[in-house]
Amino acid sequence: GLLRPFRNEPSVDFTRPAQRAAFAQALSQVREKFGATYPLFINGQNLATRQTRPSVNPAQPEEIVGQVSQAGPEQIDQAVAAAQAALSGWRDTAAAERATSLIRAAKAARARLFELAAWQVFEIGKQWDQAHADVCEAIDFLEYYAREMLRLDNPPQPASLPGEDNRLLYQSRGVAAVIAPWNFPLAISCGMVAAALVTGNTVVYKPSSLTPVIGWTLQEILRDAGLPAGVFNYVPGSSAEIGDLLVEHPAVSLIAFTGSQEVGLRILHKASALGPGQRQVKKVVAEMGGKNAVIVDEDADLDEVIPAILASAFGFQGQKCSACSRLIVVDAVYTALRERLVQAARSLRIGPAQDPAFFMGPVAEPAAVEKIQKYIQLARQEGELVYQSKVPEGPGFYVPITLVEGIRPEHRLAREEVFGPLLALMRADDFDQALHWANAPPQALTGGVFSRSPAHLERARGEFRVGNLYLNRGITGALVARQPFGGFGLSGTGTKAGGADYLLHFMDSRCVTENT
Ligand code: SER
Repeated sequence: GLLRPFRNEPSVDFTRPAQRAAFAQALSQVREKFGATYPLFINGQNLATRQTRPSVNPAQPEEIVGQVSQAGPEQIDQAVAAAQAALSGWRDTAAAERATSLIRAAKAARARLFELAAWQVFEIGKQWDQAHADVCEAIDFLEYYAREMLRLDNPPQPASLPGEDNRLLYQSRGVAAVIAPWNFPLAISCGMVAAALVTGNTVVYKPSSLTPVIGWTLQEILRDAGLPAGVFNYVPGSSAEIGDLLVEHPAVSLIAFTGSQEVGLRILHKASALGPGQRQVKKVVAEMGGKNAVIVDEDADLDEVIPAILASAFGFQGQKCSACSRLIVVDAVYTALRERLVQAARSLRIGPAQDPAFFMGPVAEPAAVEKIQKYIQLARQEGELVYQSKVPEGPGFYVPITLVEGIRPEHRLAREEVFGPLLALMRADDFDQALHWANAPPQALTGGVFSRSPAHLERARGEFRVGNLYLNRGITGALVARQPFGGFGLSGTGTKAGGADYLLHFMDSRCVTENT
Protein backbone atom coordinates (compact mmCIF):
# COMPACT_ATOMS: atom_id res chain seq x y z
CA GLY A 1 0.00 0.00 0.00
CA LEU A 2 0.98 3.64 -0.16
CA LEU A 3 3.11 5.01 2.64
CA ARG A 4 1.83 7.95 4.63
CA PRO A 5 3.89 11.14 4.11
CA PHE A 6 7.14 11.22 6.05
CA ARG A 7 6.97 12.54 9.60
CA ASN A 8 9.85 12.81 12.08
CA GLU A 9 9.64 10.39 14.97
CA PRO A 10 8.35 12.44 17.94
CA SER A 11 10.82 13.29 20.69
CA VAL A 12 10.28 12.13 24.24
CA ASP A 13 8.95 14.32 27.04
CA PHE A 14 10.88 13.40 30.18
CA THR A 15 8.90 15.90 32.25
CA ARG A 16 6.21 13.19 32.21
CA PRO A 17 6.75 10.79 35.12
CA ALA A 18 5.56 7.78 33.09
CA GLN A 19 8.22 8.40 30.46
CA ARG A 20 10.91 8.78 33.09
CA ALA A 21 9.85 5.57 34.77
CA ALA A 22 9.78 3.71 31.47
CA PHE A 23 13.27 4.88 30.62
CA ALA A 24 14.63 3.94 34.04
CA GLN A 25 13.13 0.51 33.53
CA ALA A 26 14.76 0.19 30.12
CA LEU A 27 18.10 1.00 31.78
CA SER A 28 17.72 -1.81 34.32
CA GLN A 29 16.53 -4.19 31.64
CA VAL A 30 19.64 -3.47 29.59
CA ARG A 31 21.89 -3.69 32.62
CA GLU A 32 20.77 -7.26 33.14
CA LYS A 33 22.19 -8.14 29.74
CA PHE A 34 25.64 -6.73 30.53
CA GLY A 35 28.60 -8.93 29.77
CA ALA A 36 26.95 -11.09 27.10
CA THR A 37 29.10 -12.24 24.20
CA TYR A 38 28.26 -11.02 20.69
CA PRO A 39 29.22 -12.86 17.50
CA LEU A 40 29.80 -11.50 14.03
CA PHE A 41 26.91 -11.83 11.57
CA ILE A 42 27.97 -12.99 8.11
CA ASN A 43 25.86 -14.48 5.34
CA GLY A 44 22.82 -14.77 7.59
CA GLN A 45 24.73 -16.64 10.32
CA ASN A 46 26.12 -15.74 13.71
CA LEU A 47 29.83 -16.40 13.79
CA ALA A 48 31.70 -16.35 17.10
CA THR A 49 35.43 -15.73 16.90
CA ARG A 50 38.04 -16.88 19.37
CA GLN A 51 39.17 -13.33 19.91
CA THR A 52 36.73 -11.04 21.71
CA ARG A 53 37.07 -7.50 23.00
CA PRO A 54 35.23 -5.97 25.94
CA SER A 55 33.11 -2.89 25.36
CA VAL A 56 32.87 -0.81 28.54
CA ASN A 57 30.77 1.90 30.17
CA PRO A 58 32.87 5.11 29.94
CA ALA A 59 31.42 6.32 33.26
CA GLN A 60 32.39 3.07 34.98
CA PRO A 61 35.07 1.40 32.87
CA GLU A 62 35.21 -1.77 34.95
CA GLU A 63 31.61 -2.39 33.88
CA ILE A 64 31.66 -4.56 30.76
CA VAL A 65 28.66 -3.86 28.56
CA GLY A 66 29.45 -6.72 26.17
CA GLN A 67 32.21 -9.01 24.94
CA VAL A 68 32.40 -8.67 21.20
CA SER A 69 33.81 -11.05 18.60
CA GLN A 70 36.51 -9.48 16.48
CA ALA A 71 36.68 -9.83 12.73
CA GLY A 72 40.15 -10.34 11.27
CA PRO A 73 41.27 -10.48 7.65
CA GLU A 74 39.70 -13.89 7.09
CA GLN A 75 36.26 -12.75 8.27
CA ILE A 76 36.45 -9.61 6.15
CA ASP A 77 37.03 -11.79 3.09
CA GLN A 78 34.13 -13.99 4.11
CA ALA A 79 31.80 -11.04 4.65
CA VAL A 80 32.71 -9.39 1.35
CA ALA A 81 32.26 -12.71 -0.45
CA ALA A 82 28.83 -13.14 1.13
CA ALA A 83 27.85 -9.59 0.15
CA GLN A 84 29.10 -10.21 -3.38
CA ALA A 85 27.14 -13.45 -3.69
CA ALA A 86 23.96 -11.76 -2.49
CA LEU A 87 24.38 -8.75 -4.75
CA SER A 88 22.62 -9.71 -7.96
CA GLY A 89 19.55 -11.00 -6.13
CA TRP A 90 19.26 -7.90 -3.95
CA ARG A 91 20.05 -5.45 -6.75
CA ASP A 92 17.27 -6.96 -8.86
CA THR A 93 14.74 -7.04 -6.02
CA ALA A 94 12.02 -4.48 -6.71
CA ALA A 95 12.77 -1.10 -5.15
CA ALA A 96 9.38 -1.19 -3.43
CA GLU A 97 10.34 -4.40 -1.70
CA ARG A 98 13.69 -3.04 -0.56
CA ALA A 99 11.86 0.03 0.75
CA THR A 100 9.41 -2.20 2.60
CA SER A 101 12.32 -3.91 4.36
CA LEU A 102 13.38 -0.53 5.74
CA ILE A 103 9.86 0.18 6.95
CA ARG A 104 9.86 -3.18 8.73
CA ALA A 105 13.19 -2.35 10.37
CA ALA A 106 11.78 1.01 11.49
CA LYS A 107 8.87 -0.79 13.08
CA ALA A 108 11.22 -3.16 14.91
CA ALA A 109 13.25 -0.20 16.20
CA ARG A 110 10.16 1.73 17.29
CA ALA A 111 8.98 -1.24 19.33
CA ARG A 112 12.28 -1.15 21.26
CA LEU A 113 12.91 2.58 21.26
CA PHE A 114 13.71 3.08 24.95
CA GLU A 115 15.76 -0.08 25.16
CA LEU A 116 17.84 0.88 22.11
CA ALA A 117 18.45 4.28 23.70
CA ALA A 118 19.40 2.68 27.02
CA TRP A 119 22.27 0.79 25.37
CA GLN A 120 23.70 4.14 24.26
CA VAL A 121 23.55 5.58 27.77
CA PHE A 122 25.76 2.75 28.98
CA GLU A 123 28.01 2.01 26.04
CA ILE A 124 28.96 5.58 25.07
CA GLY A 125 27.75 7.88 27.87
CA LYS A 126 24.92 9.58 26.00
CA GLN A 127 22.34 11.46 28.08
CA TRP A 128 18.78 10.10 28.15
CA ASP A 129 17.18 12.64 25.84
CA GLN A 130 20.04 12.56 23.37
CA ALA A 131 20.13 8.77 23.29
CA HIS A 132 16.40 8.80 22.62
CA ALA A 133 16.89 11.37 19.85
CA ASP A 134 19.58 9.19 18.28
CA VAL A 135 17.18 6.25 17.99
CA CYS A 136 14.46 8.54 16.60
CA GLU A 137 16.93 9.73 13.96
CA ALA A 138 17.75 6.12 13.04
CA ILE A 139 14.03 5.44 12.55
CA ASP A 140 13.72 8.63 10.51
CA PHE A 141 16.51 7.54 8.17
CA LEU A 142 14.76 4.20 7.57
CA GLU A 143 11.39 5.83 6.91
CA TYR A 144 12.78 8.68 4.82
CA TYR A 145 15.13 6.70 2.60
CA ALA A 146 12.40 4.14 1.96
CA ARG A 147 10.25 6.94 0.53
CA GLU A 148 13.16 8.50 -1.32
CA MET A 149 13.87 5.20 -3.06
CA LEU A 150 10.27 4.96 -4.24
CA ARG A 151 10.63 8.44 -5.72
CA LEU A 152 13.93 7.61 -7.44
CA ASP A 153 12.54 4.38 -8.82
CA ASN A 154 10.54 6.61 -11.10
CA PRO A 155 13.04 9.36 -11.90
CA PRO A 156 12.57 12.43 -14.09
CA GLN A 157 13.26 11.30 -17.64
CA PRO A 158 15.59 12.83 -20.22
CA ALA A 159 14.17 14.37 -23.37
CA SER A 160 12.88 12.04 -26.08
CA LEU A 161 12.21 12.97 -29.71
CA PRO A 162 9.97 11.44 -32.36
CA GLY A 163 11.89 8.32 -33.36
CA GLU A 164 14.13 8.38 -30.27
CA ASP A 165 13.07 7.04 -26.87
CA ASN A 166 15.46 7.84 -23.99
CA ARG A 167 15.10 6.28 -20.59
CA LEU A 168 17.11 6.76 -17.45
CA LEU A 169 17.29 4.34 -14.56
CA TYR A 170 19.37 3.86 -11.44
CA GLN A 171 21.13 0.73 -10.27
CA SER A 172 23.12 -0.08 -7.18
CA ARG A 173 26.88 0.28 -7.22
CA GLY A 174 27.68 -3.08 -5.64
CA VAL A 175 29.18 -4.08 -2.32
CA ALA A 176 29.22 -1.20 0.16
CA ALA A 177 31.57 -0.96 3.14
CA VAL A 178 30.00 1.14 5.89
CA ILE A 179 32.48 2.44 8.47
CA ALA A 180 30.59 4.09 11.28
CA PRO A 181 31.41 6.44 14.16
CA TRP A 182 30.63 6.05 17.87
CA ASN A 183 29.11 9.47 18.51
CA PHE A 184 25.75 8.86 16.84
CA PRO A 185 26.19 5.13 17.15
CA LEU A 186 22.80 3.98 15.91
CA ALA A 187 21.59 6.98 13.88
CA ILE A 188 24.60 7.46 11.62
CA SER A 189 25.22 3.71 11.29
CA CYS A 190 21.62 3.18 10.37
CA GLY A 191 21.52 6.14 7.98
CA MET A 192 24.52 4.98 5.95
CA VAL A 193 23.45 1.33 6.00
CA ALA A 194 19.81 2.10 5.12
CA ALA A 195 20.86 4.28 2.19
CA ALA A 196 23.17 1.59 0.86
CA LEU A 197 20.61 -1.19 1.26
CA VAL A 198 17.55 0.53 -0.12
CA THR A 199 19.44 1.51 -3.27
CA GLY A 200 20.25 -2.18 -3.85
CA ASN A 201 23.80 -2.44 -2.53
CA THR A 202 24.81 -5.19 -0.17
CA VAL A 203 26.59 -4.11 2.98
CA VAL A 204 29.58 -5.00 5.11
CA TYR A 205 29.14 -2.90 8.24
CA LYS A 206 31.94 -2.14 10.67
CA PRO A 207 30.66 -0.37 13.79
CA SER A 208 33.07 1.72 15.83
CA SER A 209 35.17 -0.37 18.22
CA LEU A 210 33.68 1.74 21.02
CA THR A 211 30.04 0.95 20.20
CA PRO A 212 29.85 -2.59 18.81
CA VAL A 213 26.93 -3.62 21.03
CA ILE A 214 24.86 -0.72 19.70
CA GLY A 215 25.99 -1.89 16.25
CA TRP A 216 24.63 -5.31 17.12
CA THR A 217 21.22 -3.74 17.83
CA LEU A 218 21.22 -2.46 14.25
CA GLN A 219 21.92 -6.01 13.13
CA GLU A 220 18.94 -7.18 15.19
CA ILE A 221 16.45 -4.73 13.74
CA LEU A 222 17.61 -5.51 10.21
CA ARG A 223 17.36 -9.22 10.95
CA ASP A 224 13.78 -8.61 12.11
CA ALA A 225 13.16 -6.93 8.77
CA GLY A 226 13.96 -10.23 7.07
CA LEU A 227 16.78 -9.38 4.67
CA PRO A 228 18.12 -12.25 2.54
CA ALA A 229 21.37 -13.85 3.76
CA GLY A 230 24.50 -11.91 2.84
CA VAL A 231 22.70 -8.62 2.14
CA PHE A 232 23.79 -7.18 5.50
CA ASN A 233 26.90 -8.34 7.35
CA TYR A 234 28.12 -7.13 10.74
CA VAL A 235 31.90 -7.20 11.29
CA PRO A 236 33.11 -5.41 14.41
CA GLY A 237 36.87 -5.31 14.75
CA SER A 238 39.92 -3.18 15.19
CA SER A 239 40.21 -0.36 12.65
CA ALA A 240 43.98 -0.81 12.60
CA GLU A 241 43.58 -4.46 11.68
CA ILE A 242 40.66 -4.48 9.25
CA GLY A 243 39.92 -0.87 8.22
CA ASP A 244 42.32 -0.71 5.28
CA LEU A 245 41.51 -4.25 4.19
CA LEU A 246 37.86 -3.38 3.89
CA VAL A 247 38.55 -0.17 1.98
CA GLU A 248 41.11 -1.79 -0.32
CA HIS A 249 39.13 -4.94 -1.02
CA PRO A 250 38.79 -5.12 -4.81
CA ALA A 251 35.15 -6.27 -4.57
CA VAL A 252 34.08 -3.23 -2.53
CA SER A 253 32.78 -0.48 -4.79
CA LEU A 254 31.39 2.04 -2.32
CA ILE A 255 32.65 3.23 1.04
CA ALA A 256 30.36 5.22 3.32
CA PHE A 257 32.32 6.73 6.18
CA THR A 258 31.67 9.17 8.99
CA GLY A 259 34.49 10.09 11.34
CA SER A 260 37.67 12.08 11.62
CA GLN A 261 39.34 14.07 8.86
CA GLU A 262 42.49 12.00 9.23
CA VAL A 263 40.72 8.69 8.65
CA GLY A 264 38.46 10.12 5.94
CA LEU A 265 41.41 11.36 3.90
CA ARG A 266 43.19 8.06 4.41
CA ILE A 267 40.15 6.23 3.06
CA LEU A 268 39.96 8.52 0.03
CA HIS A 269 43.62 7.84 -0.64
CA LYS A 270 43.43 4.05 -0.18
CA ALA A 271 40.24 3.84 -2.23
CA SER A 272 41.96 5.30 -5.27
CA ALA A 273 44.31 2.32 -5.72
CA LEU A 274 43.24 -0.37 -8.17
CA GLY A 275 43.24 -3.85 -6.62
CA PRO A 276 43.58 -7.16 -8.48
CA GLY A 277 40.46 -7.92 -10.51
CA GLN A 278 38.77 -4.68 -9.46
CA ARG A 279 36.03 -3.54 -11.84
CA GLN A 280 34.90 -0.21 -10.42
CA VAL A 281 36.26 3.15 -9.40
CA LYS A 282 35.43 3.24 -5.72
CA LYS A 283 33.04 5.89 -4.63
CA VAL A 284 33.70 7.41 -1.20
CA VAL A 285 31.01 9.16 0.80
CA ALA A 286 32.93 10.76 3.67
CA GLU A 287 31.58 13.00 6.39
CA MET A 288 34.34 14.42 8.55
CA GLY A 289 34.89 17.02 11.22
CA GLY A 290 34.02 20.63 11.82
CA LYS A 291 35.43 23.72 13.52
CA ASN A 292 32.05 25.27 13.89
CA ALA A 293 31.49 28.87 14.89
CA VAL A 294 28.58 30.74 16.39
CA ILE A 295 28.62 34.50 15.89
CA VAL A 296 27.00 36.66 18.55
CA ASP A 297 26.07 40.07 17.17
CA GLU A 298 25.84 43.19 19.31
CA ASP A 299 22.03 43.19 19.44
CA ALA A 300 21.65 39.44 20.07
CA ASP A 301 19.17 38.28 22.69
CA LEU A 302 21.50 36.81 25.31
CA ASP A 303 18.63 34.94 26.99
CA GLU A 304 18.42 32.90 23.81
CA VAL A 305 22.15 32.72 23.18
CA ILE A 306 23.28 31.20 26.47
CA PRO A 307 21.24 27.96 26.54
CA ALA A 308 21.82 27.45 22.81
CA ILE A 309 25.59 27.74 23.28
CA LEU A 310 25.66 25.41 26.27
CA ALA A 311 23.75 22.76 24.34
CA SER A 312 25.75 23.21 21.13
CA ALA A 313 29.19 23.31 22.75
CA PHE A 314 28.82 20.89 25.67
CA GLY A 315 25.89 18.62 24.77
CA PHE A 316 27.15 15.02 24.69
CA GLN A 317 30.46 16.40 25.97
CA GLY A 318 31.05 18.35 22.75
CA GLN A 319 31.54 15.11 20.84
CA LYS A 320 29.53 16.01 17.75
CA CYS A 321 30.90 17.00 14.38
CA SER A 322 28.20 19.69 14.47
CA ALA A 323 29.27 21.06 17.88
CA CYS A 324 30.12 24.71 18.48
CA SER A 325 33.83 25.06 19.23
CA ARG A 326 34.33 28.76 18.41
CA LEU A 327 32.23 31.54 19.85
CA ILE A 328 32.86 34.72 17.90
CA VAL A 329 31.48 37.66 19.83
CA VAL A 330 31.21 41.22 18.59
CA ASP A 331 33.14 43.56 20.86
CA ALA A 332 30.16 45.62 22.12
CA VAL A 333 28.57 42.62 23.80
CA TYR A 334 31.68 40.60 24.61
CA THR A 335 32.07 41.34 28.32
CA ALA A 336 28.39 40.89 29.12
CA LEU A 337 28.23 37.63 27.22
CA ARG A 338 31.38 36.20 28.76
CA GLU A 339 30.11 36.92 32.24
CA ARG A 340 26.75 35.27 31.62
CA LEU A 341 28.34 32.29 29.92
CA VAL A 342 30.69 31.64 32.83
CA GLN A 343 27.79 31.89 35.28
CA ALA A 344 25.76 29.48 33.23
CA ALA A 345 28.64 27.03 32.77
CA ARG A 346 29.13 26.99 36.55
CA SER A 347 25.64 25.57 36.94
CA LEU A 348 26.30 22.53 34.74
CA ARG A 349 26.81 19.26 36.58
CA ILE A 350 29.02 16.46 35.32
CA GLY A 351 28.49 12.78 36.06
CA PRO A 352 27.34 9.43 34.68
CA ALA A 353 24.86 9.62 31.81
CA GLN A 354 22.63 7.04 33.47
CA ASP A 355 21.70 9.71 36.03
CA PRO A 356 19.61 12.41 34.33
CA ALA A 357 20.66 14.96 36.96
CA PHE A 358 23.87 15.49 35.02
CA PHE A 359 24.09 17.77 32.02
CA MET A 360 27.40 16.34 30.89
CA GLY A 361 28.93 12.89 31.12
CA PRO A 362 32.19 11.09 30.39
CA VAL A 363 33.97 11.25 27.05
CA ALA A 364 34.35 8.19 24.89
CA GLU A 365 37.69 6.66 25.89
CA PRO A 366 41.01 7.33 27.62
CA ALA A 367 42.58 8.47 24.34
CA ALA A 368 39.89 11.17 24.12
CA VAL A 369 40.72 12.36 27.65
CA GLU A 370 44.36 12.61 26.67
CA LYS A 371 43.68 14.49 23.45
CA ILE A 372 41.33 16.97 25.12
CA GLN A 373 43.80 17.54 27.97
CA LYS A 374 46.49 18.34 25.40
CA TYR A 375 44.24 20.93 23.81
CA ILE A 376 43.52 22.41 27.25
CA GLN A 377 47.29 22.83 27.67
CA LEU A 378 47.43 24.47 24.26
CA ALA A 379 44.52 26.72 25.24
CA ARG A 380 46.60 28.01 28.16
CA GLN A 381 49.42 28.87 25.75
CA GLU A 382 47.39 30.40 22.96
CA GLY A 383 44.84 32.19 25.13
CA GLU A 384 43.67 32.50 28.70
CA LEU A 385 41.33 30.20 30.56
CA VAL A 386 38.25 32.07 31.72
CA TYR A 387 36.54 29.08 33.27
CA GLN A 388 37.25 25.46 33.99
CA SER A 389 34.86 23.14 35.82
CA LYS A 390 35.77 20.43 38.27
CA VAL A 391 35.57 16.83 37.14
CA PRO A 392 33.92 14.09 39.18
CA GLU A 393 36.13 11.88 41.31
CA GLY A 394 36.28 8.26 40.37
CA PRO A 395 37.05 6.02 37.50
CA GLY A 396 35.10 7.49 34.52
CA PHE A 397 36.67 9.13 31.47
CA TYR A 398 35.91 12.71 32.52
CA VAL A 399 37.28 16.02 31.31
CA PRO A 400 36.33 19.49 32.53
CA ILE A 401 34.24 22.06 30.73
CA THR A 402 36.76 24.69 29.61
CA LEU A 403 36.28 28.21 28.28
CA VAL A 404 39.31 29.96 26.80
CA GLU A 405 39.50 33.53 25.50
CA GLY A 406 41.93 35.54 23.43
CA ILE A 407 41.84 33.04 20.57
CA ARG A 408 42.63 34.48 17.14
CA PRO A 409 41.96 32.93 13.70
CA GLU A 410 45.59 31.87 13.26
CA HIS A 411 45.65 29.87 16.51
CA ARG A 412 45.46 26.09 16.36
CA LEU A 413 42.48 26.25 18.70
CA ALA A 414 40.63 28.16 16.01
CA ARG A 415 41.47 25.58 13.34
CA GLU A 416 41.76 22.08 14.80
CA GLU A 417 38.81 19.98 15.89
CA VAL A 418 39.04 19.05 19.58
CA PHE A 419 35.89 16.91 19.87
CA GLY A 420 35.38 17.75 23.52
CA PRO A 421 33.87 20.39 25.81
CA LEU A 422 36.45 23.10 25.10
CA LEU A 423 35.06 26.36 23.75
CA ALA A 424 37.24 29.11 22.26
CA LEU A 425 35.99 32.67 22.69
CA MET A 426 37.05 35.07 19.95
CA ARG A 427 36.48 38.79 20.32
CA ALA A 428 35.78 40.46 16.99
CA ASP A 429 35.75 44.22 16.30
CA ASP A 430 32.47 44.08 14.41
CA PHE A 431 30.12 41.86 12.45
CA ASP A 432 32.28 42.05 9.32
CA GLN A 433 35.29 40.71 11.11
CA ALA A 434 33.18 38.06 12.84
CA LEU A 435 31.94 36.76 9.49
CA HIS A 436 35.46 36.79 8.11
CA TRP A 437 36.78 34.80 11.08
CA ALA A 438 33.86 32.39 10.94
CA ASN A 439 34.83 31.37 7.40
CA ALA A 440 38.57 31.19 8.10
CA PRO A 441 39.12 27.46 8.82
CA PRO A 442 39.05 24.95 5.95
CA GLN A 443 36.22 22.97 7.53
CA ALA A 444 32.70 24.02 6.53
CA LEU A 445 30.15 21.99 8.42
CA THR A 446 27.82 23.94 10.73
CA GLY A 447 27.62 27.52 11.89
CA GLY A 448 25.28 29.89 13.67
CA VAL A 449 24.45 33.55 14.03
CA PHE A 450 22.54 35.28 16.79
CA SER A 451 21.41 38.71 15.66
CA ARG A 452 18.28 40.86 15.58
CA SER A 453 19.43 42.73 12.50
CA PRO A 454 17.66 41.46 9.37
CA ALA A 455 20.47 42.91 7.27
CA HIS A 456 23.11 40.96 9.19
CA LEU A 457 21.11 37.74 9.03
CA GLU A 458 20.77 38.23 5.29
CA ARG A 459 24.49 38.77 4.91
CA ALA A 460 25.14 35.59 6.92
CA ARG A 461 22.84 33.59 4.63
CA GLY A 462 24.93 34.62 1.68
CA GLU A 463 28.41 34.82 3.11
CA PHE A 464 28.71 32.38 6.01
CA ARG A 465 29.57 29.37 3.91
CA VAL A 466 28.91 26.12 5.74
CA GLY A 467 26.83 23.03 5.03
CA ASN A 468 24.34 23.80 7.80
CA LEU A 469 23.81 27.38 8.95
CA TYR A 470 21.45 28.13 11.83
CA LEU A 471 20.11 31.60 12.53
CA ASN A 472 19.04 32.44 16.10
CA ARG A 473 19.16 28.86 17.41
CA GLY A 474 21.64 26.15 18.42
CA ILE A 475 23.72 24.46 15.75
CA THR A 476 23.32 20.75 16.56
CA GLY A 477 20.47 18.32 16.12
CA ALA A 478 19.72 18.44 12.40
CA LEU A 479 16.51 16.55 11.64
CA VAL A 480 16.08 14.11 8.78
CA ALA A 481 14.17 15.66 5.87
CA ARG A 482 14.21 19.12 7.47
CA GLN A 483 17.90 19.98 7.72
CA PRO A 484 19.79 17.87 5.15
CA PHE A 485 23.05 17.42 7.03
CA GLY A 486 26.66 17.58 5.92
CA GLY A 487 29.48 19.92 5.05
CA PHE A 488 32.04 20.62 2.37
CA GLY A 489 35.58 21.98 2.35
CA LEU A 490 37.61 19.67 4.58
CA SER A 491 34.41 18.61 6.35
CA GLY A 492 33.50 16.04 3.76
CA THR A 493 32.70 15.07 0.23
CA GLY A 494 29.59 17.23 0.18
CA THR A 495 26.82 14.71 0.74
CA LYS A 496 23.67 15.62 2.65
CA ALA A 497 22.39 12.88 4.94
CA GLY A 498 18.62 13.01 5.32
CA GLY A 499 18.30 15.09 2.15
CA ALA A 500 16.87 14.50 -1.30
CA ASP A 501 20.17 13.96 -3.12
CA TYR A 502 21.77 11.54 -0.66
CA LEU A 503 20.69 8.26 -2.27
CA LEU A 504 22.04 9.32 -5.65
CA HIS A 505 25.56 8.86 -4.26
CA PHE A 506 24.82 5.18 -3.70
CA MET A 507 23.83 4.39 -7.28
CA ASP A 508 25.03 4.49 -10.86
CA SER A 509 22.67 5.63 -13.59
CA ARG A 510 22.11 4.14 -17.01
CA CYS A 511 20.49 5.72 -20.02
CA VAL A 512 18.95 3.46 -22.65
CA THR A 513 18.24 4.99 -26.08
CA GLU A 514 15.96 3.19 -28.52
CA ASN A 515 15.69 4.18 -32.16
CA THR A 516 11.94 3.74 -32.78
N1 SER B 1 23.40 15.26 12.66
C1 SER B 1 24.03 15.61 13.88
C2 SER B 1 23.71 16.99 14.30
O1 SER B 1 23.14 17.74 13.54
C3 SER B 1 25.52 15.49 13.78
O2 SER B 1 25.93 14.32 13.17
O3 SER B 1 24.01 17.37 15.40
